[in-house]
Amino acid sequence: MAELLSKSAYEEAIAATRAERMAWWRDARFGMFVHYGLHTVLGRNEWAMAIENWPIAEYEQLAEQFTPKPGCTREWARLAKAAGMKYMVLTSRHHEGFSLWDSQANPYNVVNCCPDGFDVVGEFVESCRAEGLGVGLYFSLMDWHHPDSWRCAFDQAARARFQEFLRGMLRELLGGRYGKIDILWYDVPAPMESHEGWGSLEMNQMVRELQPDILIDNRSRLDEDFSTPEEHIRAADGGKGWEACMTFNRISWGYLDSAQAEPYSYNAQGILRMLHTVCSGGGNLLLNIGPMVDGSVPAEAIAPLEAVGQWLAVHGEAVYGELDRCAAGTATGVGAFTQRGNKLYLWQWIWSDQLILGGFETKLKAIRAVPSGQPIEFTQTAGRIVVGPRGDELRDPVANVAVFELEFEAPPVHRRCSAYPQLHGGRQWLAD
Ligand code: GLC
Repeated sequence: MAELLSKSAYEEAIAATRAERMAWWRDARFGMFVHYGLHTVLGRNEWAMAIENWPIAEYEQLAEQFTPKPGCTREWARLAKAAGMKYMVLTSRHHEGFSLWDSQANPYNVVNCCPDGFDVVGEFVESCRAEGLGVGLYFSLMDWHHPDSWRCAFDQAARARFQEFLRGMLRELLGGRYGKIDILWYDVPAPMESHEGWGSLEMNQMVRELQPDILIDNRSRLDEDFSTPEEHIRAADGGKGWEACMTFNRISWGYLDSAQAEPYSYNAQGILRMLHTVCSGGGNLLLNIGPMVDGSVPAEAIAPLEAVGQWLAVHGEAVYGELDRCAAGTATGVGAFTQRGNKLYLWQWIWSDQLILGGFETKLKAIRAVPSGQPIEFTQTAGRIVVGPRGDELRDPVANVAVFELEFEAPPVHRRCSAYPQLHGGRQWLAD
């Protein structure tokens, strides 16, 4: 191993290569998260082992019923590609401590313990590559199965053993057996409360030595390359990379019986609205599926994801690639914008006879429908753009989200509507 860098030297070194390493990921914008493991057998949340207080030996028996079918990862990857996603992240081991690959470091794995177990991670990596998708591996630091995991908090020797256990697994995953891995997605650094406790500085330097271009998330108690808002969408400050991870059914990452999951699941428009929020804040969306025990994709996820893919195939210019952080959020109540330089893309999802945009100070040159390029009439007066005449033919039949390109003379200046003083004869309405 190369000489160990101090925290500041390490952070400086990774910052120097960050823009280049992250360029593909920033352009990619949209990825698929896959939560799969023994919890899938229970089908009621990936935390079941802890929540329901399963004795370890009893939980281990679930492996008998964990039956991934060969080729299931291809189904995931084909669906991700069809959905317009550009990368995938698989739970190579979740908190239950069960490894989805042929591991020597961790005998508690799919090949050793399952009736017809095969190397799911290996097949997953190949499937991603076959579809041209970036490859990400989720890796839980917390482990409910390994006896040293919780002891780490107070027992130095257990901590040293557990750190070595983790590193052994990381060497298997990242040491060349599976070729280039694009993302390492750590999760839940409990019970240690500092990066020192995990030896994250050493661990992540080892990771980067094995995979020099890899992106690492922020859950090993070091900031690393990108932050991971979970079940909410919040942009990071200062242009830092961020990726919102969202469940498909708003309740569980791991498989839930379809009948329970379906009523809560996002439809195509719901997914596009999330994607819009992410795009306007310069981030990424990692949308989850929880496959069934044999690895099949739950029915409720398929049609919406395919519709999103169809939509992205023609509206992708409003989503992929470099976008600016958009400050025109309050110009309309019937849609929202993404921005690239002089252009705004208006995503419209609420329909009415009139479309009026308030607050733009920059001259608008043209409005065109995407993707047809059909010019749309408009008038612009002080602080108001009235779009139209217009009709239902502009509605998008796939997801009911239409896109219009607004080309301004310069990057548009937008002022949040502050009409009250004028409307109320110059009086300060709030001060009344
Ligand atoms: C969490 C949960 C977990 C899920 C993950 C996804 O922290 O513990 O079950 O895998 O977040 O972001």
